[in-house]
Amino acid sequence: MNKLLEVKDLSVVFPSRNESVQAVDGVSFDIYEGETFGLVGESGCGKSQTLRSILGLLKAPGRVTGGKILYKNEDIVQMDRRQLQKVRGSEISVIFQEPMTSLNPVLTIRRQLYEAFENEKLTKIQREERAIELLKLVGIPSPETRLDEYPHQFSGGMRQRAMIAIALGARPKLLLADEPTTALDVTIQDQVMKLLNRLKGELQMSIILVTHDLGVIAQMCDRVAVMYAGQIVEMTDTLTLFAAPRHPYTYGLMGSLPNKDTAGSTLEAIGGAPPNLAHLPEGCPFAPRCRYAQDICRRRRPEIVPVAADHWVRCHQLGETAGFQGLITLDGGENGQGGGKHG
Ligand SMILES: Nc1ncnc2c1ncn2[C@@H]1O[C@H](COP(=O)(O)OP(=O)(O)OP(=O)(O)O)[C@@H](O)[C@H]1O
Ligand code: SF4
Ligand SMILES: [Mg+2]
Repeated sequence: MNKLLEVKDLSVVFPSRNESVQAVDGVSFDIYEGETFGLVGESGCGKSQTLRSILGLLKAPGRVTGGKILYKNEDIVQMDRRQLQKVRGSEISVIFQEPMTSLNPVLTIRRQLYEAFENEKLTKIQREERAIELLKLVGIPSPETRLDEYPHQFSGGMRQRAMIAIALGARPKLLLADEPTTALDVTIQDQVMKLLNRLKGELQMSIILVTHDLGVIAQMCDRVAVMYAGQIVEMTDTLTLFAAPRHPYTYGLMGSLPNKDTAGSTLEAIGGAPPNLAHLPEGCPFAPRCRYAQDICRRRRPEIVPVAADHWVRCHQLGETAGFQGLITLDGGENGQGGGKHG
């Protein structure tokens, strides 16, 4: 498979007068053509800022302070506003968690769809046909009559679909999806995820999917990176992550997944709170919450290292953590619940 995007040693800082926050700290990953890549982790770990950097959409005062984001061998970090707009309009699209923040409330769905493919020279009839086709693609019934409605006339699920239609309007090669279903109820969440999966195949695009939900990762992703305190702490294919996770934080996330034994009871969450990124401990940022922590963990930050082909882990105690049994067995049978999809 060909590489579509290379993120290399990306760092993002939010400076302020009193303290700087390193929201993203040396993040590296590749995206291949046609794959879905998941970014998972607790709130505040840097998922959204990583994603926003890829489109040059960081909000001030956040800025990229290091690294490269190579798209078709061109560095997005170095692009000026005009180049960025071109990439955003035609190559890379984004959908966010809350459609009302992305949809313009005073423009009809038709206008917003037309904007998505304004770079193409189309006749009036072709534009209308394309808009209707897009709404059909995302499963909006009677699209002809809904084109001239405003976002507030759509239900939550329909708005999410309209936003996906607009994001796909330019036939992007890469779709960035930041918690695209969190605001929806479970049934619609499932429909939207299945829709994204189908569209990925039909349009042959790649997706980077940000979520805090390992169930969504299992359903959607080929490969996954687990983030903690601005860094990737584990990265591998989805099946391996669920069958043979190696980072204690990943085990913790899995412990928070519902399974048949915990159904109806309170989930076992990871003890302690996510760290304050402005005041990280000297050593491993996970040490205060980690049951494997040793002296070295409190003194020195671990580097990310390969533990197998295409399996990367950032932890000093790799020998200790090798015995953890994942949620599924490697032959694909279930050991608890969850199940991974291998792309
Ligand atoms: N506007 C801001 N000003 C200062 N710091 C910010 C700002 N936005 C984000 N940050 C910092 O960047 C860190 C990473 O934020 P990010 O939005 O990437 O988190 P996330 O992983 O997407 O979390 P969530 O799951 O809650 O969306 C935050 O913990 C916060 O410290
Ligand atoms: S480096 Fe140490 S503290 Fe950090 S995750 Fe590994 S065992 Fe835990
Ligand atoms: Mg976020």
